[in-house]
Amino acid sequence: MLSVIYISVADPGLTVADVAALVESAQRCNARDELTGALIYNGQNFMQLLEGPVAKVEACLARIRADRRHNGMIEIRRRLVSEREFAGFSMLYSPLFRHHGEDLSRLAARGRFDPQDERLMTNFLALGRHGGAG
Ligand SMILES: Cc1cc2nc3c(=O)[nH]c(=O)nc-3n(C[C@H](O)[C@H](O)[C@H](O)COP(=O)(O)O)c2cc1C
Repeated sequence: MLSVIYISVADPGLTVADVAALVESAQRCNARDELTGALIYNGQNFMQLLEGPVAKVEACLARIRADRRHNGMIEIRRRLVSEREFAGFSMLYSPLFRHHGEDLSRLAARGRFDPQDERLMTNFLALGRHGGAG
C-alpha cells in the first residue's frame, strides 16, 4: 500500500460549507476506492494524508491535483506501508480546525500513528493556529 502526504493552497473563495461538501464527496469516493486518510484545512491550506492500494492512490492524487478548489500541491512524504494509519476513516475531518488536534491525538493514542507523520500533521496544525485560523 502507498501512503502520501501533500500540502496545497486552498482557493481563497472557498467557504467552510464548500469544504464540508468536498469532504462528503471525498468520503464517498474513498469508500468505493478502498482509500482512507485524513484532511486538515486551516482556512488557507490543506494537508491531506491518503493511503491505500498504489494504483488507486495514484489515480485519486491525479484527480485531486487537477481540482480547481486548490493549487500548488506539493507532496511532502510518500512511502510504501504495510498497514493503514487511518483504517476505518474514509477521510477523517473535523469541521472546526481546533478539533483536528484532538482527533489526531486520539489516533496517536491508539498507537497507529507513525511518529514522522504525526509530527508533520501536528506542526501543520500549529502553523495554522499562529496564523490565526480557527
Ligand atoms: C483538498 C482536496 C482533497 C480531496 N480529497 C479527495 C479524496 O480524498 N478522495 C477523492 O475521491 N476526491 C478528493 N478530492 C476531490 C477530487 O479532486 C475530485 O473532485 C473527486 O475525486 C471527483 O473527481 P471526478 O469528478 O473526476 O470523478 C479532493 C479535493 C480537494 C481540493
